[in-house]
Amino acid sequence: MKICMLGAGYVGLVSAACFADFGWDVICVDNNAERVADLERGRMPIYEPGLDDLIERNVKAGRIRFTIELEGAVKQSELVLLAVGTPMRRGSGYADLSYIFEAVKDIAPHLQDGAVITTKSTVPVGTSREIERRLRELRPDIDFAVCSNPEFLREGSAIRDFMFPDRVLVGCDSERGKEVMEALYKPLSLRSAPVMFVERESAELAKYAANAFLAMKVSFINEIADLCEKVDADVQQVADAIGADKRIGPKFLHAGPGYGGSCFPKDVSALIRTAREAHAPVTLVEQVDRVNNERKISMASRIQEAAGGELRDKTVAVLGVTFKPNTDDMREAPSLTILPMLQDRGAAIRAYDPEASKDAEEQLPGVVWCENALSACEGADVLLVLTEWNEFRALNLSQLKEAMRGDVLVDLRNVYSSAGAEAAGFRYSCVGRGRELSEQAPLVSDRDAAAPGDGEKTFAKAV
Ligand code: UDX
Repeated sequence: MKICMLGAGYVGLVSAACFADFGWDVICVDNNAERVADLERGRMPIYEPGLDDLIERNVKAGRIRFTIELEGAVKQSELVLLAVGTPMRRGSGYADLSYIFEAVKDIAPHLQDGAVITTKSTVPVGTSREIERRLRELRPDIDFAVCSNPEFLREGSAIRDFMFPDRVLVGCDSERGKEVMEALYKPLSLRSAPVMFVERESAELAKYAANAFLAMKVSFINEIADLCEKVDADVQQVADAIGADKRIGPKFLHAGPGYGGSCFPKDVSALIRTAREAHAPVTLVEQVDRVNNERKISMASRIQEAAGGELRDKTVAVLGVTFKPNTDDMREAPSLTILPMLQDRGAAIRAYDPEASKDAEEQLPGVVWCENALSACEGADVLLVLTEWNEFRALNLSQLKEAMRGDVLVDLRNVYSSAGAEAAGFRYSCVGRGRELSEQAPLVSDRDAAAPGDGEKTFAKAV
């Protein structure tokens, strides 16, 4: 099958490389000439483990090419996949579809009869229908089909997620679309990966609903973590206990400084917006958005308290600034909210991140960037863990402590154990594990043992 992938961004590149690896003939088009030239030289525009090797192998085999020439690529392809950006429009919370509709206008004159056009980008409900309407106007002379095939890739494990999906979701309302999309995913369905065919609107909405649900899980456990701190419980134990229930599941129950990234914040906002417009507000999701924004802000105060209530003239050594490990992506990273707040309160920041990019440097002005964790710690009063990169797990905490002026370790990802941190001489503070001694007041008082009413007596007996 000949495939044209429009957009060599995150979703476009990973999907194009994986389709090529299936054996399909893929041509990847991007209007950024520099990006295309880099890709031709084997230089990746994004950091994703394994992507460079996958692309190199398929370039060598002649199964994937990169170009800025749209016309030839579309003309020769029976399947055109749209993977252009759908950023959040500033202030509105709405997905910006201008790149999608521009792409539709650009491909229209070159589409061949019987072509299938499929969106891979995350698009609001109704977009496929609108693409089809626009294309019918532009090309009344040909038959074509428009499908929706949202991606559920996670940055850092995108190739694995693509090759071993929980499900592949295809929104489709035509025989032609189904035929081509079924053939496209044959290599996966042969391996028993479920390929689900649903209405286009269902596919479009499912992508938003999935991300909003996961964001809700994260916000839920973050609030439970705050409660754990007040009542002497351990959030990891609570998460393990509830996650063992198959109806809940163990994933996305890791408490932290709030979710970030290119998808959750954007998709949560877009879903809220779509739901309000449809007069079916998703009030639960609206709370998730609020809780997450407030959480990032409250982290600055938590760090200040751990530092003794004052940040002026203090130095904070930061480990990890990306929104999560195994990526260089800074989009909506908690560090972008927290670090400027610490700076405003008078702290100097020394940071180390294994993949800190130019982007990070530009977005976090005034930060001193260090070559490794040890050098970030030199002379620091507070050590702050913001992203749980694996390499931080085996750090020699005693050595870091030695290099510091102070002894405070704020671990917002629960990477370390309190015993380990304390043994290294740190005063350790983490997320959702037990209470500060000073805060301790009896959790169960005489009031709770007051004589129950009749109804309650009956209930107690029944139990
Ligand atoms: C997400 C979805 O998982 C993926 O299916 C979709 O296609 C794109 O959006 P991604 O943004 O790469 O993927 O990251 P993910 O691993 O889902 O994490 C999102 C954010 O939630 C990160 O900031 C992460 O640190 C946070 N998170 C995740 C937690 O704080 N706790 C968790 O238990 C899980």
